[in-house]
Amino acid sequence: MELDLEKHLAEAAASIEDAADLDALSEVDTALLGKKSAVTAAKRGLGDLEPDQRREMGGRLNEARATIEGLVASRRTELEAAARVVRLEAERMDLTEADRGRRLGHRHVVTQTWDRLEDLFVGMGYTVAEGPEIEDEWHNFGALNFPLGHPARDMYDTLYVDYGEPQSTLLRTHTSPVQIRVMEAGEPPFYSIMPGRVFRSDTADATHMPVFHQLEALVVDRDITFGDLAGTLEAFTTAYFGEGFTTRLRPSYFPFTEPSAEFDVQRPDGSWLELGGCGMVHPEVLRAGGLDPEEWSGFAFGFGLDRLALMRHGIDDLRELFRNDHRFLSQF
Ligand code: PHE
Repeated sequence: MELDLEKHLAEAAASIEDAADLDALSEVDTALLGKKSAVTAAKRGLGDLEPDQRREMGGRLNEARATIEGLVASRRTELEAAARVVRLEAERMDLTEADRGRRLGHRHVVTQTWDRLEDLFVGMGYTVAEGPEIEDEWHNFGALNFPLGHPARDMYDTLYVDYGEPQSTLLRTHTSPVQIRVMEAGEPPFYSIMPGRVFRSDTADATHMPVFHQLEALVVDRDITFGDLAGTLEAFTTAYFGEGFTTRLRPSYFPFTEPSAEFDVQRPDGSWLELGGCGMVHPEVLRAGGLDPEEWSGFAFGFGLDRLALMRHGIDDLRELFRNDHRFLSQF
């Protein structure tokens, strides 16, 4: 069989070029150079030729074979390079974009509660005041009408700081000392809230932490009554929790308010939550703050801020707030 080598090489070059991937190329390779290929068949037919012709034809067939092998090899290199690009793209890990966005932080649930409460009271015309976490005995107790040795001091499991006279310096046990600092620093009328961190030597359990947060409110003006206190607590409760929540007051005792009460919040399901203490500012406390109780009157209340966060989100263990487990905190 005569093989038109020129034509065969041109066709071979075209089919090699057309091979779209490595599998297709190896099929083309087998067809062009394998046992059943035209080149192999032609080589087999060489034996039938005259010696001169055989030598000439044999040489041309070997050249053709080498040309085809070269074309296949260079096409293979091209296709391998393309496959490598595809694979690298598929396996690409862009570390600069890993999880970006999902890892954005947010404010702690207690901070969110704190901020919401500030917004709410600022909206009602209150200013925000702060006091030190390390207090002196006078602001935390004395000025608040707890005389030295008064048994009411034992209501607070006080953590004393080893500074100055024994028991003269302490970690504030409540935010009420900031009432005194507000009165010392300005002129009435006062409509202030004082959120902050407080400390008691308590063992952590589901409802207690040795470090927690309170929000104190102090109003001092002319002719402030217990009705103003009750109305303010009710307004705050519906603004914070929503319609359907209400408050009640139960008689209680604090040295710095008279009369004193505990205030509870009622949920729409009828259940009650004890929230904090309140009362009319005691005349001795107004005096300690440099005010004349004949001229000025006021009310104060204080409650645990963390407990409000628990209630709002239906969390049942205070300790969860401070474990810093990202899986827990990221829910709020
Ligand atoms: N300071 C009180 C407490 O921590 C709460 C309170 C504040 C009571 C203001 C009356 C008025 O228990």
